[in-house]
Amino acid sequence: MIRRAVASDSGFLRDMLVEAANGGAEPPRSRVAVLDDPSIGRYLAQWPRPGDIGLVAVDRDDTPVGACWARLFPADAPGSGFVASGVPELTLGVNSQWRALGVGRTLLQSLHGAVRAGGYSRVSLSVRRTNVARRLYVSEGYTVVSSSATTDVMVRVLV
Ligand SMILES: CC(C)(COP(=O)(O)OP(=O)(O)OC[C@H]1O[C@@H](n2cnc3c(N)ncnc32)[C@H](O)[C@@H]1OP(=O)(O)O)[C@@H](O)C(=O)NCCC(=O)NCCS
Repeated sequence: MIRRAVASDSGFLRDMLVEAANGGAEPPRSRVAVLDDPSIGRYLAQWPRPGDIGLVAVDRDDTPVGACWARLFPADAPGSGFVASGVPELTLGVNSQWRALGVGRTLLQSLHGAVRAGGYSRVSLSVRRTNVARRLYVSEGYTVVSSSATTDVMVRVLV
């Protein structure tokens, strides 16, 4: 089941942020190193802020198994997936025991609906080219708008 993410989900979202930050990274960084990195921590700082849109996937016992959320960053302090003011950046993570079961795709599709309902026409993200998540994004209609040595910034138009 998918439900809205609330303030008390911040601990689980932090777990998923660590997974997302390490997606495709070799070697992965420690949890402490990731969360101490301000360029990563800002994707969840003061969760939830006005304008944040988040979803959590839960199992039959209501235990969170995955999360996807979108947050806006300003042009003078852009996130790693920034493309323009007013285009929220997406973060996605699924608990390792629940992967390859369709949870990530369901969360992503649901978040598209929630972001569109929030009045946004695009959503963006950054992904390492070595990350299997990139295949998911391509199959869900994301296109590459810029690239660095290791990373692509991708955008999905929400119609
Ligand atoms: C990326 C992630 C969210 C996908 O979640 P998931 O629930 O495992 O994904 P799904 O089961 O919905 O699979 C969706 C698609 O992802 C791709 N995919 C997922 N796992 C894959 C794997 N191990 N190898 C290749 N492709 C894979 C496939 O395209 C798959 O579609 P298919 O099943 O039709 O082939 C999950 O692997 C994860 O949490 N990874 C760590 C965090 C992360 O990297 N987040 C993204 C940061 S940009």
